[in-house]
Amino acid sequence: MNKIAIVGKGGVGKSFITYALSKFFAQKANKVLVVDCDESNKSLFRLFGFAHSPKDFMDFLGGKKAVQQKLIKKFKDKEAKINILEKGLVTLESIPTEFIQQDGNIFLISIGKISHPMEGCACPMGVVSREFLEKIELKKDELVIVDTEAGVEHFGRGIEQGIDVVLAIAEPYLDSIEVAKRAYFLAKDMGKRAYLLFNKVTSNLKERLEKTLEQQDIELLGFIDFYPEVYASALDGKIPENKSVFSEIEKIGEKIYGI
Ligand SMILES: Nc1ncnc2c1ncn2[C@@H]1O[C@H](COP(=O)(O)OP(=O)(O)OP(=O)(O)O)[C@@H](O)[C@H]1O
Ligand SMILES: [Mg+2]
Repeated sequence: MNKIAIVGKGGVGKSFITYALSKFFAQKANKVLVVDCDESNKSLFRLFGFAHSPKDFMDFLGGKKAVQQKLIKKFKDKEAKINILEKGLVTLESIPTEFIQQDGNIFLISIGKISHPMEGCACPMGVVSREFLEKIELKKDELVIVDTEAGVEHFGRGIEQGIDVVLAIAEPYLDSIEVAKRAYFLAKDMGKRAYLLFNKVTSNLKERLEKTLEQQDIELLGFIDFYPEVYASALDGKIPENKSVFSEIEKIGEKIYGI
């Protein structure tokens, strides 16, 4: 496994789990590249303790408008394959430092955010995310973890094409479970390895949650408890000091690292 995407309905804990898994992977791998593909939420950098976000990767490519123009031209010229990024040029070393935030062997890049009214849809970011994840060249013991936008639109855009493993997170309520299952099977349809993980679970619900997956050929990775301290510290944009939540997520990481 070189590239893993964390997916699920809004608020299930994708960003928090991305952070905790990155910390775990950073103890194992040489480099962990965290790719923020969420065009709405701007705060992943804060979880990692950075003072500010890295500059949008879209700006490295000349900005969203420039990418949009390229896409329009390709579309008009009826070019079958859109190529925004040159293959062979997408490496961690080829990205200027202002587009990366680094802490030890963890590197954060952010594809792009919607920041202005009427600026247009997030499709250019979707194309860049897909190409970036397909074309990024990783050395041995380097891995990529992707924090995605809520829902399943990114499957429509194909950003999982370059991904090896999809981890679908669900909270213990029906809508959330339905979205995670859909994401799981969309990943499977793309030929990817997929897992489902329940987050924010109180122990009395575990059995009922297992039942919701019965006879559905879904690989359940486990359950993470609901930790009131995680919520409380998130109010200040901080990481909880409680170690148990991290050791639970480490156990999940152990199951998927190296597969
Ligand atoms: N196991 C947990 N116990 C308690 N709170 C949790 C747990 N996991 C995550 N949270 C909290 O849930 C909230 C949502 O988490 P997070 O922002 O990571 O979700 P998300 O899926 O990335 O949301 P979005 O869809 O908006 O990107 C945060 O306040 C976070 O601290
Ligand atoms: Mg998030």
